[in-house]
Amino acid sequence: MKKTRVMMGMLVLIFLLATACLKPREVPMISIDESINMYVVADPHYMSEKLTEDCETFTNYLDTVDRMMKYTGVFLDIMEVEIKKNQPDIIVFPGDLTNNGSKVNHLEFEKRLKRMKSTGAKVYVVPGNHDINNTKALYFKDNELHLTESINEDEFVEIYKNYGYGEAISRDKNTLSYLAKPYKNLWLLMLDTTKDYPEPGGYLNRDTLNWIVSCSDMAKEENAEIIVVMHHNLLDHSDIIWEDYTVDNNTSVLNTFHEIGIKVVLSGHIHIQDIKSHTSIETGNTIYDIATSSLPVYNHQYGQLSYSPSKGYDYETRKLDVEKYALENNLEDENLLSFNDYSEMFFIKNLCRKHKESIELLDLSDEEKQEVFKTVVEMNKKYFSGYRNEALQEQIESEGFKIVESLEECFIQEYVMGMIDDQNADNNKLHIPIN
Ligand SMILES: [Fe+2]
Repeated sequence: MKKTRVMMGMLVLIFLLATACLKPREVPMISIDESINMYVVADPHYMSEKLTEDCETFTNYLDTVDRMMKYTGVFLDIMEVEIKKNQPDIIVFPGDLTNNGSKVNHLEFEKRLKRMKSTGAKVYVVPGNHDINNTKALYFKDNELHLTESINEDEFVEIYKNYGYGEAISRDKNTLSYLAKPYKNLWLLMLDTTKDYPEPGGYLNRDTLNWIVSCSDMAKEENAEIIVVMHHNLLDHSDIIWEDYTVDNNTSVLNTFHEIGIKVVLSGHIHIQDIKSHTSIETGNTIYDIATSSLPVYNHQYGQLSYSPSKGYDYETRKLDVEKYALENNLEDENLLSFNDYSEMFFIKNLCRKHKESIELLDLSDEEKQEVFKTVVEMNKKYFSGYRNEALQEQIESEGFKIVESLEECFIQEYVMGMIDDQNADNNKLHIPIN
């Protein structure tokens, strides 16, 4: 009798465990007075230390890129600390997860995502143009540059199955775009916008746009808001640099987004901090394309977007404190211990090189060229960090700026003037009220 009871008990336990496993994941709801926090980590371009070595070839390569490749792992280490401490609800990565799509980089990056997810955050990724079928996937050994294995689209989905693809409620047949439902009333439309990997340009074809409309229909049935996350930019973030950054057919994409009432687009790719908006004359809908700057690029920051059904959206950037991290973790690398100086030096050398070259060609004295370069560097530092117009007031009054103003029409003049003729002065903060 006792034996039968034990058997029955075990059967009930097995049944309960089996039904618990089969039960679909309960999707939470954001209540009207609650808000959720989302981190936006753009273009981390992760490069494994396994693929590098301290050699001249690697040092020379570092000099050719805008991002600080040597410390991409350190920046993500700091992100992990921030995530553990602040416990965001969602973390999104709008592409260019890795340096040139090397398989080793993807596999290590996934391990980092696993640790971030273990804090309880929901983590979502989409590929950028660097991440797939990249014939320039490389590594450094014996002071030489070698090519290494990249990954294809299927491998991307497999590696990142726990970061969006596995829980997608709809997937586009033409691209690696998907729709995720982290909350009953807040959905994420994660768009794969690369036209032809690993070329830099972006595009969304008609079939994908139709799929996007069907996603919106699903969300409307459940009264859910949709946030779009995509690698390429929806709107031009610069008058000079937009080709291959903004999606090629942005008029069609913009029309579709207006039609379905999208308000927030989170993008990356351009590596500068910038927010642009567009209002539809037909519908009155306003879309904000928030381009978060690349994590390994000056000023080394990420975005935080909070959403509340009653208050709307609030976006702001958060700068990594590399020096504090280096100190607290007893790191011995001098570049990290005095990171503010180092990153400024790196910025002047790598990101202002083109400007220096074009100033050299001007018909000016050496002192005048120096003044112009000094002004361009200071303006560029703010420009990359998301400050324009009157935020550059100090530099507008400088000697270098006056010289630029007096020049004949040229690249450097167009570039400098473009910084003070922008939609926003502060691209690091934004409030979007609910309708
Ligand atoms: Fe990038």
